[in-house]
Amino acid sequence: MAKRAASFVCQVCGAVHSRWQGRCDSCGSWNSISQEESSGTSVPSAQRTNRKGRLIALESLAGVSENVPRTSVGIAELDRVAGGGLVPGSVLLIGGEPGIGKSTLLIQASAVLANAGHRVVYISGEEAVAQVRLRAERLGLAGASVELAAETNVEDIVATISEGRTPAMVVVDSIQTMWTDTAESAPGTVTQVRGSAQILIRYAKRAGAAVILVGHVTKDGQIAGPRVVEHMVDAVLSFEGDGAHQFRILRAQKNRFGPTDEIGVFEMTGLGLREVANPSELFLSNGDRGAPGTAVYAGMEGTRPVLVEIQALVVPTSLGTPRRAVVGWDPSRLSMVLAVLEARCGVKLGAHDVHLNVAGGFRITEPAADLAVAAALVSSLAGSSLPTETVYFGEISLTGAVRPVPHAAARMKEAAKLGFTRAVAPEGKASNGEPSERPLATESITSLHDLVANIAARGPKRGAKTPQPAEQFDEE
Ligand code: TYD
Ligand code: MG
Repeated sequence: MAKRAASFVCQVCGAVHSRWQGRCDSCGSWNSISQEESSGTSVPSAQRTNRKGRLIALESLAGVSENVPRTSVGIAELDRVAGGGLVPGSVLLIGGEPGIGKSTLLIQASAVLANAGHRVVYISGEEAVAQVRLRAERLGLAGASVELAAETNVEDIVATISEGRTPAMVVVDSIQTMWTDTAESAPGTVTQVRGSAQILIRYAKRAGAAVILVGHVTKDGQIAGPRVVEHMVDAVLSFEGDGAHQFRILRAQKNRFGPTDEIGVFEMTGLGLREVANPSELFLSNGDRGAPGTAVYAGMEGTRPVLVEIQALVVPTSLGTPRRAVVGWDPSRLSMVLAVLEARCGVKLGAHDVHLNVAGGFRITEPAADLAVAAALVSSLAGSSLPTETVYFGEISLTGAVRPVPHAAARMKEAAKLGFTRAVAPEGKASNGEPSERPLATESITSLHDLVANIAARGPKRGAKTPQPAEQFDEE
């Protein structure tokens, strides 16, 4: 009989400590360690005997490989992020803050897949069957033959879904509510979450069903997050968005069966999530273009170009330390662009508050947005609007040089499709050796200094092609 010892497990990262402490050494979280019984995860005693290992067949790398079969969910935005559909026997984790729309997305996916003739099981550990049914009814999906259950014990769940035809998809909403008989700690603890996930993963591999786990993450990561499950599953998708906007973005963070830089864009409507096939139109607000401080950035998200509007407001500060407020971009990247503007181009922003906003609640992760940010900042400071038909992209280095970025042609093609005619972009091509095709008239720049000089030369009045409010009044 193994001795049961109490262990102290960090509920954020799952690190095990020998005693309680206020701060986890491994992930740095405060007050995240709680006591758990360590059992259940130990190796069965038969395996601890001195048995001689069985020989396993080793194979060569150059064997015959089959194409991974995939089940298309039928929601294109989800399929693409998953790498072209669900892989039978794989486990996918969808993480996101509560209320972002994970359950809505998955009930919609379940209904589409069930209507295509597959067996789909939806296990809700959070809502009663009636609640799930009510939501499905509201979404107009009540007719779909999805098998529902409100259950939290994984042994019961696996026993139930193992009966009958193998499901094409099993949704477990959410992994935090699941518990297993093999672990003794309370539901929601790292040990339970990990133990339950292990059982569901073993089921998926054995039965060849695609299992989707839902995981809640909070901003401060206080509850036993799905972080501990991330390395166990085949793919981790995060569902993002903010309450103020209707857009929801599904992003692949890890995917053993596909690329990790793809995004799926959805819009939350009264009738559930709607796929957005052309995200650029969403993130460009025509009303703001032509006003000082607004620049259009030609970005890439995975294989898909996305045009986004970047808005900057630079105003004299009334504080000792000027404010730097950023929404949708990396604050340290903004500091860098401000420093380069100041040091290399003589643009003094030390006595100004800087507010930067990426329109539509979008979040940009690419360094290629540097140039568009700089353009928006300088434009706002100078009070001179940028030409409305121009897009910007390029990475800024600390020396003030503008470096080429990948996929220049794809970015320009998308911009041309949306009616833009000019691009301000770095010269030369990125190191990946793509053809230097230029679908737009390009103003090649090599240093940030050129950009600043160009915007300053436009002047506050001359620049605006769209009439400014003041001018409109003058004419009338
Ligand atoms: P939900 O899928 O329950 O979020 P999660 O499972 O990630 O916690 O979505 C909850 C939110 O979505 C809720 O605030 C209401 C909103 N919503 C709509 O706007 N339209 C709809 O058709 C549905 C079903 C939900
Ligand atoms: Mg939910």
